[in-house]
Amino acid sequence: MSSTSPVKPEHLPQHIAVIMDGNGRWAKKQGKIRIFGHQHGVRAVREIAEGCAELGIKYLTLYAFSTENWNRPKFEVNALMGLLVKTIRQETETLQKNSIRLEAIGDRSHLPQDCQRELDEAIEATRSNDRMTLILALSYSSKWDILNAVRSIAHEVKLGKLEPEAIDEDLISSFLTTRDYPNPELMIRTSGEQRISNFLLWELAYSEFYFTDVLWPDFRKEHLIEALKEYQNRERRFGKTSEQITK
Ligand code: IPE
Ligand code: IPE
Ligand code: MG
Repeated sequence: MSSTSPVKPEHLPQHIAVIMDGNGRWAKKQGKIRIFGHQHGVRAVREIAEGCAELGIKYLTLYAFSTENWNRPKFEVNALMGLLVKTIRQETETLQKNSIRLEAIGDRSHLPQDCQRELDEAIEATRSNDRMTLILALSYSSKWDILNAVRSIAHEVKLGKLEPEAIDEDLISSFLTTRDYPNPELMIRTSGEQRISNFLLWELAYSEFYFTDVLWPDFRKEHLIEALKEYQNRERRFGKTSEQITK
C-alpha cells in the first residue's frame, strides 16, 4: 500500500498494545543520561494516546515498566517513578479533554506510595470517560499475571467451587488482569528490538506484530499511521487458508 493511501476507518484494531522502547539509546545518541530519554518519551505517549482516540481505537495498552525493570540501577528506577507521578498529574487534563479513561495492570503494590496514590486518583477521576481506555502496564509482566491466575484457579478448585473440567480458555482469560479488554489485534514495538519481553503472552497469541527502528521519544502520529496501514495489509488467517479468508 502506498504511504499516501489513507487508513481505512472500517478496518481498525479495537486494541493496540505498545512496547515503548529505546528511550535510553535516544538519550545516549545525544550524549545525555538515560533519564533524559524517559522525559522525552512523555510527548510520544501524549501524541499516541491522542492519535488513537482521534482514530477511534477503543483500547490502548502501553508497557511503561516491566517486572524486570525493577532490576535497573536504583537511580533510574527512582527517576522513572518520579516521572510517572509527575506525568500522571500533568496529563490528567489531556485525558479529560479527550475523554480517555485511565486504567492500570501490574503489581501496583510494588509501586511507591505517592505513585499508587496519583494513579488511583487519575483512575478515579477519569472513570466515566468513554472515548478510549488507556491501560498502563506498570510493574507488569505476563508471567506474573498468569502465575497469579493459576494460583487463584487452584484455590477455587481446592475449595470445591470449580471443577478442573470447567477450566477453559475463557475461564483463564477471566482470571487475568486484562479480563475486561479484548485481545490486542496489533502490537507495536519501537527501537528495533524484536521480542515481547514478558508482555501479554496469552493475549498476543494471535496479534499482528509491527516492529520499527524509530526510538520511542521520536514516535509520532505519522508512525502510528504507518503501523496501522501495515496492519491493514496483513491477512489474519487464524489457522485457516488464505482461500477460506478471502472467499
Ligand atoms: C523503554 O526504554 C522505557 C522503559 C523500559 C522504562 P529503555 O529504557 O528500555 O531504552 P533502551 O532500550 O535502553 O534504549
Ligand atoms: C520492555 O522494555 C519493557 C518496557 C518497555 C516497559 P525493555 O527495554 O526493558 O526490554 P528488554 O529487557 O530489553 O527486553
Ligand atoms: Mg529497552
